[in-house]
Amino acid sequence: MPVAATPSVATTLSRAATRAALAPSVHNTQPWHFVVRHNYIEIWSDTSRQLKVLDPRARQLMISCGCAVFNACVAIAAAGFEPMVARFPDPLIPELLARISLGDARDWVPIGALDPAIDDRRTNRRAFADEPVPASVIYDLVEAARSEFAQLIPITAPQLRTAVAQLSRHADQVQAADPAYLAELLDWTTDDPRRNDGVQAASVPYAGPMSVAHDGIPIRAFDVRGMGWLPSSSHSDADQCLLLLAAADDGPESWLRTGEALEHVWLELTRRGYAASPLNQLIEVPHTHEQLRATLQLDLHPQILLRVGLAPNAVRTPRRPWGDVISGAAASDVE
Ligand SMILES: Cc1cc2nc3c(=O)[nH]c(=O)nc-3n(C[C@H](O)[C@H](O)[C@H](O)COP(=O)(O)O)c2cc1C
Repeated sequence: MPVAATPSVATTLSRAATRAALAPSVHNTQPWHFVVRHNYIEIWSDTSRQLKVLDPRARQLMISCGCAVFNACVAIAAAGFEPMVARFPDPLIPELLARISLGDARDWVPIGALDPAIDDRRTNRRAFADEPVPASVIYDLVEAARSEFAQLIPITAPQLRTAVAQLSRHADQVQAADPAYLAELLDWTTDDPRRNDGVQAASVPYAGPMSVAHDGIPIRAFDVRGMGWLPSSSHSDADQCLLLLAAADDGPESWLRTGEALEHVWLELTRRGYAASPLNQLIEVPHTHEQLRATLQLDLHPQILLRVGLAPNAVRTPRRPWGDVISGAAASDVE
């Protein structure tokens, strides 16, 4: 699809920063900062927003930032330029995660077609329809992950699905019994519509005293205040479409790449009208993490478990103001 007119470099980079800021992030922490320079954009991690209890190694922080990197690349591609990514360009500055510049102008850079999906993508914690996800869609998602150097593994065998469900329930119970985990969750969930980070009550199932949820694979119990707006059951069970994103290594560069793969998969499925939500408790608890690897006989490192399906719409979650997360751009360039 030819682009009508190539936008200026400054406009393209500024827009890339605003698109990056719409990426998903663990607990909606938005642990990033974007610097728009003359001819490239930088993506920095903000470790002051790291979840010290849930994410002591900053693995999920880095995955979140990888999602932002991918959004920036999509925006640059949509403007008709090849995105050129240098990851960790300065070994002395580990917080500088990526520098993205504009490569050649082209009529068509394929990932640019995902740009509208950035606005539509959500974490959807509602009940998914029973309808199976077609094999052709799963194939496309696996390919999307592969193109970002990660592996997306469909969990299909009944005994593996049952094992994943059991490990998920166990991990959920371990976390629910940890006061430090719960205190951190309380800090990052809110029913204040004016707050621009954290997970809103409007996005999570009700888990208060009247809850009737008996999900086979529990989604994270965000509703620590009993204020969740969504129905308490998410119908999350062993028979839904379960996709495990895994990486060959388990370090910062690999986590960043995993985030790029996660967002590529998420935008692809969004474009096709599907919804997703991560179910990561079993990956976070060390004991269930190791059992998952053993059960699946994985040499790879599990990073994110996703459920995918058809679901009613979820609301958009808030983001921090651009002025707080983007610097270096002329204000007029940030639309
Ligand atoms: C690395 C990562 C881990 C996440 N883990 C979970 C999770 O375990 N459970 C969940 O319900 N959502 C999870 N999420 C979704 C975030 O809570 C969500 O992206 C954030 O609240 C912003 O909402 P949005 O995705 O609708 O924009 C995760 C997202 C990322 C990027």
